[in-house]
Amino acid sequence: MRSKFLRGIPMLIVGILVFAPFLLAACGPKATPLDKGKVIYEETAGGVGCKMCHGADGKGGNQGPPIRGKSVEDVNRALATSETMEFINLTDEEVESVAAYLKYLNSQP
Ligand code: HEC
Repeated sequence: MRSKFLRGIPMLIVGILVFAPFLLAACGPKATPLDKGKVIYEETAGGVGCKMCHGADGKGGNQGPPIRGKSVEDVNRALATSETMEFINLTDEEVESVAAYLKYLNSQP
């Protein structure tokens, strides 16, 4: 019983080695929160992107104030209270991604 089990181990290792590249390929490369946040910010939020009102660099645009560096809480509060942004619905994960992008924008000149 035990030796049969031990003989199975080399097969298991071969199996892992054979499938490892497929597993890696299936898992990556993954879009980071920052990548996702950029797409939401520039294109998808409310079908227009935050960029339309807050500017490509988050420094403010023709309608919206500067929002670079704003946190998850700031974004949630603003989305919940602003009538102008009422048409934008984001999941918690999307808010986190967009906040990561706002943080990144804040690190830019
Ligand atoms: C249609 C224009 C528009 C779009 C699109 C928009 N906003 Fe706004 N946003 C505004 C306006 C206008 C305000 C100022 C508050 C108000 O008048 O409702 C504001 C305020 C904010 C504030 C609060 C700023 C502060 O100083 O407290 C945050 C944070 C914010 N927006 C984030 C976002 C994010 C993130 C997105 C994209 C998911 C977005 N906004 C998309 C128009 C917009």
